[in-house]
Amino acid sequence: MNPSKTIQAIIFDLDGVLTDTALYHFRAWKALADKLGVSFTEQDNEQLKGVDRLNSLRWIAEKGGLVLSADEEDRLMAQKNAHYLQLIQHMNQADLYPGVQPLFAAIKAKGWKIGLASASKNAAFVVDRLGVAADFDFVADANQVKNSKPDPEVFLLAAAGLEVAPGHCIGVEDAVAGIEAICAAGMRPVGIGEPALLAQASLVVPHIASLSIAQLQALA
Ligand code: BG6
Ligand code: MG
Repeated sequence: MNPSKTIQAIIFDLDGVLTDTALYHFRAWKALADKLGVSFTEQDNEQLKGVDRLNSLRWIAEKGGLVLSADEEDRLMAQKNAHYLQLIQHMNQADLYPGVQPLFAAIKAKGWKIGLASASKNAAFVVDRLGVAADFDFVADANQVKNSKPDPEVFLLAAAGLEVAPGHCIGVEDAVAGIEAICAAGMRPVGIGEPALLAQASLVVPHIASLSIAQLQALA
């Protein structure tokens, strides 16, 4: 076996990979866009998956030809986040996608580490609600980085926290920006969703429940 290709860690995105929060982010952005008079579709939302709060707002404003002051940006981001938190207020362990627990158990049985690389500032709250906080060897989120996906910073921070070189990591993402970030980090990318959208990924599966340890091992 070529030791440079062994797998030592799997780094997961959160929203849309481990739970269905991608839908709630979409609903909250859509409500805000409607208020601002900007049309915002599910197709538009594909561009914003994995993108942090400020850059998402700026994308919507730009689409509507709006120029926002820093104060307006802060107010609108606070509105969107309050709505999002309201949408996920009852989230609990039942909201963890099927297949996550057995996959985590299989990863641990291999002796691989488990990391999180999320563009969300709410990641710690969501992971705690899902009951999986203790499963992660390291959690990297938007509170700790300057650059949003597709920049590789959050994946590189997760790898550093896990003490695993990026070349020994696999990243798992549902977002176009996330797959780009994984590639830019020098990790092997696995997509969750549509193969046509996530064309840069080495492997794409429709849901995390269909991702097997054998498929991850085969990426080595
Ligand atoms: C990403 C989501 O994980 O986090 C985006 O894919 C979301 O849709 C972004 O906008 C920022 O999340 P938050 O919770 O910090 O507003
Ligand atoms: Mg995501």
